[in-house]
Amino acid sequence: MTKLCVLGMGYIGLPTALLFANNGIEVVGVDVNEKVVSTLQQGKMHFEENGFQELLDSAMEKESFRASAKVEEADVFLVAVPTPFDTEFRMADLKYVISACEMVVPHLKKGNLVIIESTIPPKTCEKRVRKILELSGLKASQDFYISHCPERAIPGNTLHEMVNNDRVIGGLDKKATELTRDLYSSFVKGNLYLTTSTTAEMIKLMENTYRDVNIALANELSMLAEDYGINIWEAIEIANKHPRVNIHKPGPGVGGHCIAIDPWFLTENANNSSLITLARNINDSMPIHVLKKVKEMVNGIECPVITVFGVAYKGDIADTRATPALKFIKLAEKEGFTIKIYDPFVKEFEYPILSLEEAVEGSDCIVVLTDHSMFRNIPREEFFGKMRNRNVVDTRNVISKSIIHPYI
Ligand SMILES: NC(=O)c1ccc[n+]([C@@H]2O[C@H](COP(=O)([O-])OP(=O)(O)OC[C@H]3O[C@@H](n4cnc5c(N)ncnc54)[C@H](O)[C@@H]3O)[C@@H](O)[C@H]2O)c1
Repeated sequence: MTKLCVLGMGYIGLPTALLFANNGIEVVGVDVNEKVVSTLQQGKMHFEENGFQELLDSAMEKESFRASAKVEEADVFLVAVPTPFDTEFRMADLKYVISACEMVVPHLKKGNLVIIESTIPPKTCEKRVRKILELSGLKASQDFYISHCPERAIPGNTLHEMVNNDRVIGGLDKKATELTRDLYSSFVKGNLYLTTSTTAEMIKLMENTYRDVNIALANELSMLAEDYGINIWEAIEIANKHPRVNIHKPGPGVGGHCIAIDPWFLTENANNSSLITLARNINDSMPIHVLKKVKEMVNGIECPVITVFGVAYKGDIADTRATPALKFIKLAEKEGFTIKIYDPFVKEFEYPILSLEEAVEGSDCIVVLTDHSMFRNIPREEFFGKMRNRNVVDTRNVISKSIIHPYI
Protein backbone atom coordinates (compact mmCIF):
# COMPACT_ATOMS: atom_id res chain seq x y z
CA MET A 1 0.00 0.00 0.00
CA THR A 2 1.33 3.46 -0.95
CA LYS A 3 2.11 5.64 2.06
CA LEU A 4 1.45 9.37 1.75
CA CYS A 5 2.53 12.12 4.13
CA VAL A 6 0.49 15.32 3.70
CA LEU A 7 1.95 18.52 5.19
CA GLY A 8 -0.72 21.11 6.04
CA MET A 9 -4.10 19.99 7.43
CA GLY A 10 -6.04 23.06 6.29
CA TYR A 11 -8.92 23.68 3.87
CA ILE A 12 -7.03 21.94 1.07
CA GLY A 13 -4.59 19.49 2.69
CA LEU A 14 -7.10 17.83 5.02
CA PRO A 15 -9.85 16.93 2.50
CA THR A 16 -7.17 15.84 0.02
CA ALA A 17 -5.59 13.61 2.67
CA LEU A 18 -8.99 12.14 3.57
CA LEU A 19 -9.92 11.45 -0.05
CA PHE A 20 -6.67 9.55 -0.52
CA ALA A 21 -7.19 7.72 2.79
CA ASN A 22 -10.64 6.61 1.67
CA ASN A 23 -9.27 5.35 -1.65
CA GLY A 24 -6.65 2.80 -0.75
CA ILE A 25 -3.74 5.01 0.39
CA GLU A 26 -2.22 5.04 3.89
CA VAL A 27 -2.08 8.70 4.95
CA VAL A 28 -0.29 10.60 7.72
CA GLY A 29 -1.60 14.14 8.04
CA VAL A 30 1.03 16.51 9.47
CA ASP A 31 0.48 20.00 10.83
CA VAL A 32 2.67 22.39 12.82
CA ASN A 33 -0.38 23.58 14.73
CA GLU A 34 -0.66 21.27 17.77
CA LYS A 35 -4.34 22.09 18.27
CA VAL A 36 -5.13 20.98 14.71
CA VAL A 37 -3.26 17.71 15.26
CA SER A 38 -4.87 16.93 18.63
CA THR A 39 -8.38 17.75 17.31
CA LEU A 40 -7.88 15.40 14.37
CA GLN A 41 -6.41 12.73 16.66
CA GLN A 42 -9.68 12.84 18.60
CA GLY A 43 -11.49 12.17 15.33
CA LYS A 44 -12.89 15.69 15.07
CA MET A 45 -12.70 18.33 12.36
CA HIS A 46 -11.16 21.70 13.28
CA PHE A 47 -13.34 23.53 10.75
CA GLU A 48 -16.71 22.80 9.26
CA GLU A 49 -17.65 21.84 5.76
CA ASN A 50 -20.27 19.49 4.36
CA GLY A 51 -19.15 15.86 4.22
CA PHE A 52 -15.72 16.35 5.87
CA GLN A 53 -16.60 14.78 9.24
CA GLU A 54 -18.09 11.70 7.54
CA LEU A 55 -14.94 11.33 5.45
CA LEU A 56 -12.77 11.62 8.56
CA ASP A 57 -14.93 9.06 10.42
CA SER A 58 -14.67 6.62 7.56
CA ALA A 59 -10.87 7.03 7.20
CA MET A 60 -10.39 6.58 10.97
CA GLU A 61 -12.55 3.45 10.87
CA LYS A 62 -10.45 2.07 8.02
CA GLU A 63 -7.32 3.06 10.03
CA SER A 64 -5.99 4.61 6.84
CA PHE A 65 -5.58 8.13 8.29
CA ARG A 66 -3.81 9.46 11.34
CA ALA A 67 -2.71 12.96 12.31
CA SER A 68 0.77 13.71 13.55
CA ALA A 69 2.96 16.68 14.48
CA LYS A 70 5.95 15.04 12.80
CA VAL A 71 6.85 14.21 9.24
CA GLU A 72 7.82 10.58 8.75
CA GLU A 73 9.15 8.34 5.99
CA ALA A 74 6.66 7.78 3.18
CA ASP A 75 6.48 7.01 -0.55
CA VAL A 76 4.92 10.36 -1.38
CA PHE A 77 5.00 13.77 0.35
CA LEU A 78 2.27 16.28 -0.47
CA VAL A 79 2.68 19.93 0.56
CA ALA A 80 -0.54 21.95 1.08
CA VAL A 81 0.63 24.77 3.34
CA PRO A 82 -0.33 28.45 3.01
CA THR A 83 1.28 30.79 0.49
CA PRO A 84 0.29 34.19 1.86
CA PHE A 85 0.72 37.45 0.05
CA ASP A 86 3.63 39.68 0.99
CA THR A 87 1.87 43.05 0.86
CA GLU A 88 5.09 45.07 1.05
CA PHE A 89 6.73 43.51 -2.01
CA ARG A 90 3.52 42.36 -3.74
CA MET A 91 4.74 38.80 -4.11
CA ALA A 92 4.22 35.30 -2.75
CA ASP A 93 5.56 34.67 0.71
CA LEU A 94 7.03 31.19 0.36
CA LYS A 95 8.20 30.73 3.95
CA TYR A 96 5.70 27.94 4.72
CA VAL A 97 6.44 26.04 1.50
CA ILE A 98 10.17 26.34 2.18
CA SER A 99 9.85 25.15 5.79
CA ALA A 100 7.58 22.25 4.75
CA CYS A 101 10.16 21.15 2.14
CA GLU A 102 12.90 21.44 4.76
CA MET A 103 10.86 19.18 7.04
CA VAL A 104 10.71 16.56 4.26
CA VAL A 105 14.50 16.59 3.59
CA PRO A 106 15.60 14.27 6.46
CA HIS A 107 12.97 11.69 5.42
CA LEU A 108 13.51 11.75 1.67
CA LYS A 109 14.47 8.41 0.12
CA LYS A 110 15.24 7.14 -3.36
CA GLY A 111 12.08 6.72 -5.44
CA ASN A 112 10.03 9.26 -3.42
CA LEU A 113 7.64 11.71 -5.03
CA VAL A 114 7.11 15.23 -3.63
CA ILE A 115 3.95 17.04 -4.78
CA ILE A 116 3.35 20.74 -4.16
CA GLU A 117 -0.38 21.58 -4.06
CA SER A 118 0.13 25.07 -2.59
CA THR A 119 -0.32 27.88 -5.09
CA ILE A 120 3.16 29.03 -6.12
CA PRO A 121 4.76 31.42 -8.64
CA PRO A 122 6.11 29.98 -11.91
CA LYS A 123 9.49 28.22 -11.58
CA THR A 124 9.11 27.59 -7.81
CA CYS A 125 9.29 23.80 -8.19
CA GLU A 126 12.18 23.99 -10.62
CA LYS A 127 14.26 26.53 -8.73
CA ARG A 128 13.26 26.67 -5.04
CA VAL A 129 11.67 23.30 -4.17
CA ARG A 130 14.29 21.28 -6.05
CA LYS A 131 17.17 23.15 -4.36
CA ILE A 132 15.83 22.53 -0.85
CA LEU A 133 15.01 18.86 -1.42
CA GLU A 134 18.44 18.21 -2.97
CA LEU A 135 19.97 19.17 0.41
CA SER A 136 19.10 15.53 1.19
CA GLY A 137 22.03 14.53 -1.04
CA LEU A 138 19.59 12.97 -3.55
CA LYS A 139 19.11 14.28 -7.06
CA ALA A 140 15.74 15.40 -8.42
CA SER A 141 14.49 13.57 -11.55
CA GLN A 142 17.05 10.86 -10.88
CA ASP A 143 16.70 9.71 -7.24
CA PHE A 144 13.35 11.33 -6.42
CA TYR A 145 10.58 13.23 -8.24
CA ILE A 146 8.87 16.62 -7.92
CA SER A 147 5.55 17.78 -9.32
CA HIS A 148 2.98 20.52 -8.97
CA CYS A 149 -0.72 19.70 -8.80
CA PRO A 150 -2.61 22.92 -8.06
CA GLU A 151 -5.99 22.87 -6.37
CA ARG A 152 -9.03 24.68 -7.81
CA ALA A 153 -11.78 23.54 -5.42
CA ILE A 154 -14.19 26.18 -4.20
CA PRO A 155 -14.80 26.53 -0.43
CA GLY A 156 -18.33 25.38 0.37
CA ASN A 157 -18.29 22.65 -2.30
CA THR A 158 -14.76 21.36 -1.79
CA LEU A 159 -15.33 17.62 -1.78
CA HIS A 160 -17.49 17.54 -4.89
CA GLU A 161 -15.01 19.73 -6.78
CA MET A 162 -11.92 17.86 -5.58
CA VAL A 163 -13.37 14.63 -6.93
CA ASN A 164 -15.04 15.92 -10.10
CA ASN A 165 -12.99 18.89 -11.33
CA ASP A 166 -10.38 18.42 -14.01
CA ARG A 167 -6.84 18.75 -12.69
CA VAL A 168 -3.52 19.93 -14.02
CA ILE A 169 -0.47 17.88 -13.17
CA GLY A 170 3.01 19.11 -14.02
CA GLY A 171 6.19 17.26 -13.13
CA LEU A 172 9.79 18.38 -13.31
CA ASP A 173 10.13 15.40 -15.64
CA LYS A 174 7.87 12.84 -17.32
CA LYS A 175 8.19 10.23 -14.58
CA ALA A 176 7.19 12.76 -11.88
CA THR A 177 4.10 13.68 -13.93
CA GLU A 178 3.12 10.05 -14.44
CA LEU A 179 3.63 9.06 -10.80
CA THR A 180 1.44 12.00 -9.75
CA ARG A 181 -1.23 11.10 -12.32
CA ASP A 182 -1.33 7.50 -11.04
CA LEU A 183 -1.75 8.70 -7.46
CA TYR A 184 -4.57 11.18 -8.16
CA SER A 185 -6.37 8.65 -10.35
CA SER A 186 -7.26 6.90 -7.08
CA PHE A 187 -10.07 9.40 -6.43
CA VAL A 188 -10.25 12.10 -9.15
CA LYS A 189 -13.07 11.53 -11.66
CA GLY A 190 -12.31 14.64 -13.75
CA ASN A 191 -9.72 14.69 -16.54
CA LEU A 192 -6.07 14.83 -15.56
CA TYR A 193 -4.11 17.14 -17.87
CA LEU A 194 -0.40 16.44 -17.93
CA THR A 195 2.21 19.12 -18.50
CA THR A 196 5.41 20.57 -16.99
CA SER A 197 5.67 21.93 -13.44
CA THR A 198 6.18 25.53 -14.59
CA THR A 199 3.21 25.34 -16.97
CA ALA A 200 1.03 23.93 -14.17
CA GLU A 201 2.15 26.74 -11.85
CA MET A 202 1.34 29.30 -14.54
CA ILE A 203 -2.06 27.75 -15.41
CA LYS A 204 -3.37 27.98 -11.84
CA LEU A 205 -2.35 31.66 -11.64
CA MET A 206 -3.69 32.42 -15.14
CA GLU A 207 -7.13 31.07 -14.21
CA ASN A 208 -7.50 33.39 -11.23
CA THR A 209 -5.93 36.31 -13.09
CA TYR A 210 -8.47 35.88 -15.90
CA ARG A 211 -11.24 36.17 -13.33
CA ASP A 212 -9.67 39.16 -11.60
CA VAL A 213 -9.18 41.07 -14.86
CA ASN A 214 -12.72 40.21 -15.95
CA ILE A 215 -14.14 41.47 -12.62
CA ALA A 216 -12.10 44.68 -13.01
CA LEU A 217 -13.69 45.14 -16.44
CA ALA A 218 -17.15 44.60 -14.92
CA ASN A 219 -16.33 47.13 -12.19
CA GLU A 220 -15.17 49.70 -14.72
CA LEU A 221 -18.28 49.09 -16.84
CA SER A 222 -20.47 49.50 -13.74
CA MET A 223 -18.90 52.90 -13.01
CA LEU A 224 -19.46 53.95 -16.63
CA ALA A 225 -23.07 52.72 -16.39
CA GLU A 226 -23.58 54.93 -13.34
CA ASP A 227 -22.40 57.91 -15.38
CA TYR A 228 -24.87 57.01 -18.14
CA GLY A 229 -27.66 56.31 -15.63
CA ILE A 230 -28.25 52.74 -16.74
CA ASN A 231 -28.65 49.47 -14.86
CA ILE A 232 -25.35 47.57 -15.23
CA TRP A 233 -26.88 44.25 -14.14
CA GLU A 234 -29.43 44.35 -16.93
CA ALA A 235 -26.74 45.45 -19.41
CA ILE A 236 -24.35 42.62 -18.46
CA GLU A 237 -27.13 40.02 -18.50
CA ILE A 238 -28.08 40.98 -22.04
CA ALA A 239 -24.47 41.37 -23.23
CA ASN A 240 -23.75 37.86 -21.94
CA LYS A 241 -26.44 36.46 -24.27
CA HIS A 242 -23.79 36.92 -26.96
CA PRO A 243 -22.35 33.44 -27.46
CA ARG A 244 -18.74 34.60 -26.98
CA VAL A 245 -19.17 37.14 -24.18
CA ASN A 246 -18.90 36.32 -20.46
CA ILE A 247 -18.63 39.51 -18.42
CA HIS A 248 -18.28 38.76 -14.71
CA LYS A 249 -20.20 40.51 -11.94
CA PRO A 250 -19.19 43.91 -10.59
CA GLY A 251 -19.01 44.40 -6.83
CA PRO A 252 -17.31 46.11 -3.89
CA GLY A 253 -13.89 44.62 -4.72
CA VAL A 254 -12.36 41.16 -4.73
CA GLY A 255 -11.57 39.18 -1.59
CA GLY A 256 -10.52 35.70 -0.54
CA HIS A 257 -7.09 34.21 -0.64
CA CYS A 258 -6.91 33.32 -4.35
CA ILE A 259 -8.30 35.77 -6.91
CA ALA A 260 -7.10 38.89 -5.10
CA ILE A 261 -3.63 37.47 -4.55
CA ASP A 262 -2.69 35.08 -7.34
CA PRO A 263 -2.29 37.77 -10.05
CA TRP A 264 0.56 39.25 -8.00
CA PHE A 265 2.29 35.82 -7.94
CA LEU A 266 2.19 35.92 -11.72
CA THR A 267 3.59 39.42 -12.08
CA GLU A 268 6.22 39.36 -9.33
CA ASN A 269 9.04 38.41 -11.68
CA ALA A 270 7.60 39.90 -14.86
CA ASN A 271 8.64 43.09 -16.61
CA ASN A 272 5.49 43.54 -18.68
CA SER A 273 2.27 43.25 -16.78
CA SER A 274 0.43 46.52 -17.04
CA LEU A 275 -3.07 45.07 -17.60
CA ILE A 276 -2.94 42.63 -14.66
CA THR A 277 -1.61 45.30 -12.32
CA LEU A 278 -4.21 47.81 -13.47
CA ALA A 279 -7.01 45.29 -12.92
CA ARG A 280 -5.75 44.58 -9.40
CA ASN A 281 -5.67 48.29 -8.64
CA ILE A 282 -9.21 48.83 -10.01
CA ASN A 283 -10.57 46.00 -7.86
CA ASP A 284 -8.67 47.19 -4.79
CA SER A 285 -10.10 50.69 -5.23
CA MET A 286 -13.75 49.58 -5.33
CA PRO A 287 -14.39 50.06 -1.57
CA ILE A 288 -13.49 53.74 -2.10
CA HIS A 289 -16.07 53.95 -4.87
CA VAL A 290 -18.73 52.29 -2.69
CA LEU A 291 -17.97 54.78 0.08
CA LYS A 292 -18.44 57.63 -2.39
CA LYS A 293 -21.94 56.32 -3.21
CA VAL A 294 -22.78 55.93 0.48
CA LYS A 295 -21.60 59.49 1.19
CA GLU A 296 -23.96 60.78 -1.50
CA MET A 297 -26.83 58.84 0.13
CA VAL A 298 -26.25 60.18 3.64
CA ASN A 299 -25.27 63.68 2.60
CA GLY A 300 -26.77 66.16 5.08
CA ILE A 301 -27.40 63.56 7.81
CA GLU A 302 -25.58 64.30 11.04
CA CYS A 303 -23.41 61.45 12.45
CA PRO A 304 -24.60 58.86 9.91
CA VAL A 305 -25.02 55.23 10.94
CA ILE A 306 -24.22 52.72 8.20
CA THR A 307 -25.31 49.08 8.22
CA VAL A 308 -23.12 46.63 6.33
CA PHE A 309 -24.92 43.55 5.00
CA GLY A 310 -22.32 40.83 4.61
CA VAL A 311 -18.63 40.81 5.44
CA ALA A 312 -17.78 37.38 3.98
CA TYR A 313 -15.75 37.83 0.81
CA LYS A 314 -18.44 36.02 -1.17
CA GLY A 315 -21.96 34.73 -0.79
CA ASP A 316 -23.15 31.86 1.42
CA ILE A 317 -19.85 31.25 3.21
CA ALA A 318 -18.34 32.45 6.51
CA ASP A 319 -14.87 33.18 5.11
CA THR A 320 -13.75 36.80 5.56
CA ARG A 321 -10.14 36.45 4.39
CA ALA A 322 -9.06 39.59 2.51
CA THR A 323 -12.68 40.70 2.34
CA PRO A 324 -13.21 44.11 0.68
CA ALA A 325 -15.83 44.74 3.40
CA LEU A 326 -13.06 45.34 5.93
CA LYS A 327 -11.50 48.04 3.76
CA PHE A 328 -14.91 49.66 3.26
CA ILE A 329 -15.63 49.62 7.02
CA LYS A 330 -12.25 51.16 7.88
CA LEU A 331 -12.69 53.88 5.26
CA ALA A 332 -16.23 54.61 6.46
CA GLU A 333 -15.03 54.85 10.06
CA LYS A 334 -12.36 57.33 8.99
CA GLU A 335 -15.18 59.35 7.47
CA GLY A 336 -16.73 59.49 10.96
CA PHE A 337 -19.57 57.04 10.20
CA THR A 338 -20.82 54.59 12.81
CA ILE A 339 -20.79 51.06 11.43
CA LYS A 340 -23.14 48.20 12.30
CA ILE A 341 -22.71 44.78 10.74
CA TYR A 342 -25.12 42.00 9.86
CA ASP A 343 -23.81 38.73 8.43
CA PRO A 344 -25.80 35.54 9.07
CA PHE A 345 -22.81 33.32 8.18
CA VAL A 346 -19.82 34.99 9.82
CA LYS A 347 -19.16 34.19 13.50
CA GLU A 348 -15.75 35.79 13.99
CA PHE A 349 -14.69 39.16 12.63
CA GLU A 350 -12.66 42.22 13.63
CA TYR A 351 -15.94 44.03 14.40
CA PRO A 352 -19.04 42.80 16.28
CA ILE A 353 -21.65 40.99 14.19
CA LEU A 354 -25.21 41.94 15.16
CA SER A 355 -28.64 40.46 14.60
CA LEU A 356 -30.60 41.89 11.66
CA GLU A 357 -32.86 43.82 14.01
CA GLU A 358 -29.97 45.40 15.95
CA ALA A 359 -27.98 46.13 12.81
CA VAL A 360 -30.70 48.13 11.07
CA GLU A 361 -32.03 49.96 14.13
CA GLY A 362 -31.22 53.68 13.86
CA SER A 363 -29.35 53.17 10.57
CA ASP A 364 -29.23 55.73 7.77
CA CYS A 365 -28.04 53.46 4.98
CA ILE A 366 -27.76 49.73 4.31
CA VAL A 367 -24.75 48.77 2.18
CA VAL A 368 -24.94 45.26 0.76
CA LEU A 369 -21.39 43.96 0.26
CA THR A 370 -21.92 40.18 0.07
CA ASP A 371 -24.38 38.21 -2.05
CA HIS A 372 -25.65 35.83 0.62
CA SER A 373 -28.72 34.26 -1.01
CA MET A 374 -30.81 34.64 2.16
CA PHE A 375 -30.60 38.43 1.74
CA ARG A 376 -33.00 37.96 -1.18
CA ASN A 377 -35.73 36.64 1.08
CA ILE A 378 -35.76 39.09 3.97
CA PRO A 379 -39.30 40.47 4.33
CA ARG A 380 -39.54 44.20 3.73
CA GLU A 381 -40.53 45.13 7.29
CA GLU A 382 -37.53 43.19 8.70
CA PHE A 383 -35.16 44.53 6.05
CA PHE A 384 -35.82 48.14 6.99
CA GLY A 385 -36.73 47.40 10.65
CA LYS A 386 -36.29 50.54 12.73
CA MET A 387 -34.01 52.36 10.30
CA ARG A 388 -33.74 56.11 10.74
CA ASN A 389 -33.45 56.74 6.99
CA ARG A 390 -34.25 54.14 4.35
CA ASN A 391 -31.24 54.36 2.01
CA VAL A 392 -29.76 51.28 0.30
CA VAL A 393 -26.57 50.77 -1.70
CA ASP A 394 -26.69 47.25 -3.13
CA THR A 395 -23.28 46.48 -4.65
CA ARG A 396 -24.28 42.85 -5.38
CA ASN A 397 -27.74 43.21 -6.86
CA VAL A 398 -29.28 40.81 -4.35
CA ILE A 399 -32.02 42.91 -2.80
CA SER A 400 -35.29 42.69 -4.66
CA LYS A 401 -36.37 45.86 -6.47
CA SER A 402 -39.77 45.57 -4.82
CA ILE A 403 -38.07 46.16 -1.47
CA ILE A 404 -35.80 49.09 -2.28
CA HIS A 405 -37.41 50.65 -5.32
CA PRO A 406 -39.52 53.30 -3.57
CA TYR A 407 -36.53 54.56 -1.64
CA ILE A 408 -33.68 54.85 -4.14
N1 LIG B 1 -8.58 27.18 0.51
C1 LIG B 1 -8.80 27.23 -0.80
O1 LIG B 1 -9.93 27.38 -1.24
C2 LIG B 1 -7.67 27.06 -1.80
C3 LIG B 1 -7.99 26.85 -3.14
C4 LIG B 1 -6.98 26.66 -4.05
C5 LIG B 1 -5.65 26.72 -3.62
N2 LIG B 1 -5.35 26.95 -2.33
C6 LIG B 1 -3.94 26.98 -1.91
O2 LIG B 1 -3.67 25.82 -1.13
C7 LIG B 1 -2.67 26.13 -0.15
C8 LIG B 1 -3.18 25.78 1.23
O3 LIG B 1 -4.28 26.61 1.52
P1 LIG B 1 -5.31 26.29 2.68
O4 LIG B 1 -6.49 27.16 2.42
O5 LIG B 1 -5.50 24.82 2.82
O6 LIG B 1 -4.50 26.83 3.96
P2 LIG B 1 -4.95 26.75 5.49
O7 LIG B 1 -4.45 27.98 6.12
O8 LIG B 1 -6.37 26.36 5.60
O9 LIG B 1 -4.12 25.50 6.06
C9 LIG B 1 -2.76 25.39 5.98
C10 LIG B 1 -2.27 24.51 7.15
O10 LIG B 1 -0.87 24.32 6.97
C11 LIG B 1 -0.27 24.28 8.27
N3 LIG B 1 1.16 24.46 8.12
C12 LIG B 1 1.89 25.60 7.92
N4 LIG B 1 3.19 25.30 7.77
C13 LIG B 1 3.30 23.95 7.88
C14 LIG B 1 4.38 23.04 7.79
N5 LIG B 1 5.62 23.44 7.56
N6 LIG B 1 4.12 21.72 7.94
C15 LIG B 1 2.86 21.29 8.15
N7 LIG B 1 1.80 22.10 8.25
C16 LIG B 1 2.01 23.41 8.10
C17 LIG B 1 -1.02 25.37 9.01
O11 LIG B 1 -0.87 25.20 10.42
C18 LIG B 1 -2.45 25.15 8.52
O12 LIG B 1 -3.17 24.27 9.36
C19 LIG B 1 -2.34 27.61 -0.34
O13 LIG B 1 -1.22 27.75 -1.19
C20 LIG B 1 -3.57 28.15 -1.02
O14 LIG B 1 -3.29 29.31 -1.79
C21 LIG B 1 -6.34 27.11 -1.38
